[in-house]
Amino acid sequence: MWKRAFSTAAVGAAAAVFRRPCLSGTRRASTLSSAVNSMLLRSLKEHYLEVAKMTMPPKIGPPPPFAIVKGALDSHGPVLKRSYGDEEISIYVTRLVSGMDDESSEIDQLFVHVDVSKPGQEESLIFLCGLYEDALGIHSVSMRPKDHDAAYIVLPTQYVGPTFEELDERTRDAFHNYLEERGINESLFKFLQAWLYVKDHRNLVRWFKTMGLFIDGKKPPQDDA
Ligand SMILES: *[C@@H]1O[C@H](CO)[C@@H](O)[C@H](O)[C@H]1NC(C)=O
Repeated sequence: MWKRAFSTAAVGAAAAVFRRPCLSGTRRASTLSSAVNSMLLRSLKEHYLEVAKMTMPPKIGPPPPFAIVKGALDSHGPVLKRSYGDEEISIYVTRLVSGMDDESSEIDQLFVHVDVSKPGQEESLIFLCGLYEDALGIHSVSMRPKDHDAAYIVLPTQYVGPTFEELDERTRDAFHNYLEERGINESLFKFLQAWLYVKDHRNLVRWFKTMGLFIDGKKPPQDDA
């Protein structure tokens, strides 16, 4: 329910913001610009208030032993971490298809990247996966320098390994078991899906707010959101 309400409001909000203002070309530039500004500001504020009071999904915790990375909502970094023996496992999540402006854009598939690091090793093992409510699919497995930028994963500049489907079944199963053993499976879906909604909502609220403040000529406060 909240999913639909959320995406509809986002569409309405975007449509309202981008509606073409009708202005007479004979007015003086300064009058024009202040009329445009106040119209835009009013619109931004209206939608800011509307979006800010939207109900968010009930808070759910991550499946143990995963823990939420502090500040993850405001970063591009990992969302979840856990240790496994001497390994550190980090999970990043994004939408498989981005954009909320499609009516059918309920998030039903997530793009997850799993990073397995070991002390004393310069590279980490990276799994790129599609995560669904009832399944986890591996797209690729590769080695990347530790502490890479998350954008590096999306636009890799080096060999990313063979196409996963080209590997023989036994090897593919073994990789699936490797992840399963580390607690990475479809049970993470519900949490990551809800987390992404909260993040999207936060970004949308901030979008209305910072843009309004900019147009109004004010500086955004440091403790944003
Ligand atoms: C996923 O992994 C967790 C932790 O190992 C396990 O408790 C859970 O049963 C698994 N879920 C499924 C659907 O296999």
